[in-house]
Amino acid sequence: MSFSATALLASVTLFDGSSCYNADIRRPMATLKDAAARKSILATIRLVVPAGAARPAPPVGPALGFYRLNLMAFCKDFNARTQKYKAETPMQVTLTAYKDSTFEFVVKSPSVSWFLKKAAGIETASTRPSHVNVSSLTLRHVYEIAKLKQADPFCKHISLEALCKSIIGTANSMGIAIVKDL
Ligand SMILES: *[C@@H]1O[C@H](CO)[C@@H](O)[C@H](O)[C@H]1NC(C)=O
Repeated sequence: MSFSATALLASVTLFDGSSCYNADIRRPMATLKDAAARKSILATIRLVVPAGAARPAPPVGPALGFYRLNLMAFCKDFNARTQKYKAETPMQVTLTAYKDSTFEFVVKSPSVSWFLKKAAGIETASTRPSHVNVSSLTLRHVYEIAKLKQADPFCKHISLEALCKSIIGTANSMGIAIVKDL
């Protein structure tokens, strides 16, 4: 699968950063307790689904079918939420199934190292990052990845600057140099 830096930039430019679609995981405990009292949880299902491409086939079909959840509703909602990501981006889904056959889910994008490798067009990180840089990316790439990560659960209250610093740290630990311009 080829995934050039240009393609990544093209895809992330479409992302306006305005839609924080994930459930607010920082709601007060009281609210969580109320929710638990209202609905009893049947199962928690973890799946990896390509962005914009959920369809009623494995792995999604059997997993949701087993708990008698509305498969088409999931596919439609998931595809709408993930359309801003480049096709094939492996999104991590955590789905909570309730006993009344309803469900909720949160979507998390792949790891920072996944995005860095795709942007740099490399399959593996440097085996000796302190001695050999295998690739370089610009601050612009870092910023675009930070904007995507900010849409993840647990990340939306972290500043772009803090996310960028952490991404640069990850890049350096993988032997990817971050430069101003290529
Ligand atoms: C790798 O790139 C970083 C800049 O991100 C630089 O500080 C470091 O010296 C480089 N390492 C090597 C071995 O060239």
